Amino acid sequence: MSRVALVTGGSRGIGAAISKALKDAGYTVAASYAGNDEAASKFTGETGIKTYRWDVADYEASKAGIAQVEADLGPIEIVVANAGITKDAPFHKMTPDQWKAVIDTNLTGVFNTIHPVWPGMRERKFGRVVVISSVNGQKGQFAQVNYAATKAGDIGIVRSLAQEGARAGITANAVCPGYIATEMVMAVPEKVRESIIAQIPAGRLGEPEEIARCVTFLVSDDASFINGSTISANGAQFFS
Ligand code: CAA
Repeated sequence: MSRVALVTGGSRGIGAAISKALKDAGYTVAASYAGNDEAASKFTGETGIKTYRWDVADYEASKAGIAQVEADLGPIEIVVANAGITKDAPFHKMTPDQWKAVIDTNLTGVFNTIHPVWPGMRERKFGRVVVISSVNGQKGQFAQVNYAATKAGDIGIVRSLAQEGARAGITANAVCPGYIATEMVMAVPEKVRESIIAQIPAGRLGEPEEIARCVTFLVSDDASFINGSTISANGAQFFS
């Protein structure tokens, strides 16, 4: 039987590319989404990948959603914590609501996604955890104090989980995408986006599939000794 993989935020953007790549690699994939029913049903129609609606910021909803996935498909052996949002504003204009929304979804959401599947991974002595961080968690970004804090936090999460899971056959790694051609990046004002692209030595935005391939490698048996690491895929925009 093929391994079951959960991808949060898995019906759009980078998450959709990850879901499809994992399916193509032979995994049974479940994609969670927060609220865009239309995009999710279109995605399921096109790919055959089951989608599940819950808010990753809500622990009980995550637990219930994950239980449903496991009842439908079997134990989750691979989890990709990808769901994330931006609420960009220069710090002096950032509101507590903008801070909280991003922390709740991007950081607490990672806890809420991994925590319910962790005991099963420990029992079965196998697990693959991948968290989608960001170049902006590595370097910081103007107008992203909230987002950068969560994405830097992701790196601390995987480095800690790696130490806890290693003897139980679980790996936890992060992927730090640079600027990728998704709705999230397209929402940045065009002029600002052009100035960002000018700072990328590759001279272009990345493609979601270029991130998905990193994830497919990290969850494979070939990556069994890679644990607590960070793969940067940013077109040489930043080195850490
Ligand atoms: N560096 C330095 N200064 C900057 C700047 C930057 N990157 N961006 C804007 N500024 C300056 C402006 O020039 C302006 O200066 P003046 O007051 O001297 O004119 C000042 O900051 C304030 O700018 P605004 O009044 O335009 O600010 P605003 O409140 O309208 O906010 C913004 C605009 C939200 C900052 C907008 O410019 C923006 O969205 N910037 C992009 C932020 C970004 O890169 N987000 C990443 C999204 S993609 C993502 O997150 C995915 C991923 O993981 C990579």
